[in-house]
Parts: sequence; structure tokens; C-alpha cells
Amino acid sequence: MSDLTQVLARIDDGLYDSLERLFELLRIRSISADPAFRADCRSAAEWCAGALKGAGFEASVRDTIGHPMVVGHYRGAGDGAPHVLFYGHYDVQPVDPIALWNRDPFDPAVVEVDGEKRILARGASDDKGQLMTFVEAARAWMEVSGRLPVNVSVLLEGEEESASPSLLPFITANAEELKADAALVCDTNMWDRQTPAIATQLRGLLYEEVFLEAASHDLHSGYYGNAARNPIHVLVDLLARLRDPQGKVTLPGFYDGVPEVTAEQKRQWGTLGFDEKAFLGDIGLSIPAGETDHTVLEQVWARPSLEVNGIVGGYTGEGAKTVIPAKASAKVSFRLVGEQDPDRIRDAFRSFVRAQVPADCKVSFASHGGDGAVTLPVDSPFVEKAKRALSEEWGKEAVLIAMGGSIPIVSQFKRQLGMDSVLVGFSLEDDRIHSPNEKYNLKSFHGGMRSWARILDALGR
Ligand code: BES
Ligand code: MN
Repeated sequence: MSDLTQVLARIDDGLYDSLERLFELLRIRSISADPAFRADCRSAAEWCAGALKGAGFEASVRDTIGHPMVVGHYRGAGDGAPHVLFYGHYDVQPVDPIALWNRDPFDPAVVEVDGEKRILARGASDDKGQLMTFVEAARAWMEVSGRLPVNVSVLLEGEEESASPSLLPFITANAEELKADAALVCDTNMWDRQTPAIATQLRGLLYEEVFLEAASHDLHSGYYGNAARNPIHVLVDLLARLRDPQGKVTLPGFYDGVPEVTAEQKRQWGTLGFDEKAFLGDIGLSIPAGETDHTVLEQVWARPSLEVNGIVGGYTGEGAKTVIPAKASAKVSFRLVGEQDPDRIRDAFRSFVRAQVPADCKVSFASHGGDGAVTLPVDSPFVEKAKRALSEEWGKEAVLIAMGGSIPIVSQFKRQLGMDSVLVGFSLEDDRIHSPNEKYNLKSFHGGMRSWARILDALGR
């Protein structure tokens, strides 16, 4: 029996032990955005370092100005063998609104729904379940054969869900240690339940917050209505002007660097059989809201977007209160594609806002990060090998897809380390990542472990 066959059998036999280890990680409340969970983030980092040691890596928790990084190394494949860097993140999104969860988000369980076993917990899919597919695959390799087929370093981050403030300093300071022939990133999804996928495009993200202040304090709307400037009105007027009725963003220069969708992309994406109606139907919608001259798949994969993520101001409690608020604010983000430059778009956004705000209204901004889009090779030997391994595992040809989301590290790997990433993940569109009742199918977890076992084998050949 080949090593790989034995490793796969080991993964099958050990599925419930692997699941138990994943549950331990899922019980840790590592919400990176909320300072109240700082100690939990550290616990999760320590747990991950322990798991890596258990899988045969040399591993350590590294302090940063924010949440710690976890770094592991295995060099046993020798100097001639390829060297890959695996990346995942142990932090999770906040759980609110908590009332909408069917069970405690940090008390994981496997529940059967529609004949499908699902792991329920915050982070089950994004990204604890995903990162554990790799750690468990490595563990199975070590247990069965005492070795990994290639040299492997691991970087697990604890700030991915909160704009990764420590990432750039950490990568630059540890460039020599982290640089490998390619990065393997497990934070994306399959095309559908049967079809494995490699993502070769990610959108970038620019995230801004805008604060408006008008009168010196909240006012009675009878005394002052009409005469006093209402900052909520100013805010919604300017937000409305950011987008035209055809779904285009109106900021000057916004579309600089946005490539046309190529004929090859149209052809390749056409073969995927994307169902616009089902895509929107699954979330209770029916009418695409983006640029009217683009298909839904193009809107989410290949076109930039503007979204208001939150808006705050005035009286929102029970009943009526006749008030003109003194303040209003909004969180606004842009998904970027191609060569769109986050710094230039930030400047354009701020100038646009300043120009619309009347003189006796004060405006200020906060930045929550800005990263450009990434385009990855579609035909490197790493992609080819991963593609073949995935196709063998799932019994169906793996497809190359784009991804509307962002993974800040991928552009940093490219820019700081000159390293391309291979994005392989096993999440599904209906995993409800970032939402209440997040889940990861047991099949994703099991098939994910088996896939990595095969990919490691293929990379060693
Ligand atoms: N796993 C997601 C990225 C993702 C989203 C992949 C959708 C595939 C489909 C990742 O954890 C994430 O949510 N990233 C953030 C980054 C941001 C906070 C800088 C995102 O895209 O909003
Ligand atoms: Mn993620």
C-alpha cells in the first residue's frame, strides 16, 4: 500500500478524533475585533501552536502589537524538496446578533440537516474548520509515515477578520523565515457541493468611516426644525450621490485600473453553469442590484463595489422622539479589482465627502484599512498539482474561480515576499460565514483533510 493510501485511510479512521480537536478550537472565543476577547485570542494562538506540535511541527506563538501570530516549521523533507507556507486564521467574526443563533456559537455540535451532517459554531467554516483540514492532514502524514512529502511552514493569523494591522510589520520583519516557493491558503470555497475549486482572483478592500457633527448638542425639532442642519440628512444625501441608478460608483477616477472582463474569463465562467436566480433566491432576493450592464457573476467577481455597511445617528429607541441629532456617522467600504489603487480611492472619497458637507458641519474620517485586488497564476506547477489532487479526491474536475471576498495576506505575500498563493478551500456558499448559525459540512472537513493529504503528496513528486 502506498503512503498516500495509508494516510487517507488514517484520516477516515480518525475522523472523529480530528473533529474532537476542531471542537476544542471552536470552543475558544477568539473574536479579534472586540478587545474584550483579547485573552481568548491568545488562548486560541496557544492552542494552535500546541496542535502544530502535536502534528510534528516545531511551533511558536509570536507576539505582535495586536493578536499573536503562530508560526510552525517542518524541514524534514530535505534541502532539495519544495517548501510551501500554509496560511489560515484562528480569529473569528463577532457573533451578534446573538438572538438569531439556534445554539451557543461557541458550543460546537454536529447536527444533521437535509441528510447532511453539519458542524455548527462560529468559525466552523471561517476559518477554524478550514485551517484544521490542513493541520490534520499533516498530522495523518506524520503518524503514518513519520514524514511530510515537502518542507512546510505554517503561519496562522489572529487578525484576519479585523483588517490585519500587525500583518505587514510581521511579514517584513520575518521575511526570510516565512518565504517559501508558494503559499497554500485555505480560506475560500468550493464551486458547489460536488466541485472542488481553486480561486485565482480576490477583490481588494478599502474601508472608511465618516463622522459628521453639526449643532453643539441634540436639538428639539420643533424649536429648530428647518433652521438647524441635520447631519443625518447631510450624510444620506452624500451617500446616495455615491452611486447612480445604473449601479455605477460616481467618485471621479473610481474605475481607473478596472479591467474589462476578458473573452477568456467570459468563456471559462460560462462553463460553470452559474444560476443567477438560485444565487439570489437562496438569500430571499430576486433582482440583481449591481451595475446593470454586467451579469451577477461579473458583479461579484470582476467588478468593484461600494457598500454602506452601517449607519448611526439620532433616536433609534422605542416610540417617537422629536430630535435633530448633533452627530451622524457611516461605515463605507469598497471592493476593488484589477489595478484600482486604494490610496487614490480613499483620497477621492474624502474629497467627495468634504465637497458635499456644508460649512457649519464638521467632518472627520477613520480608516479601517485598504488593500488592492490580487490576480494569481492559473497555470503554475503548484496550481496544476493541486488541481489534479483535488480532482482525484472529489471525482470531478477542479475548476478555477474568482472570489468576491478579500484575504489581505495574499497581496502581502506577493508584494513583500514575491510569493504566489494557491487558494484552496472547502467552504460552501450556504455556510453563513460572518452570520448567525455558521456551519461547515462534515463532508467539507473530511474531504478537505483528504484533499490536503493528496496535495502534499502531489507537491512532493
Ligand atoms: N474567508 C473570508 C474571505 C472570503 C469571503 C472568501 C467570501 C471567500 C468568499 C475572509 O475571512 C474574510 O471575510 N475576509 C474579509 C477581509 C476583511 C476583513 C479585510 C472580507 O472579505 O470581508
Ligand atoms: Mn476567512
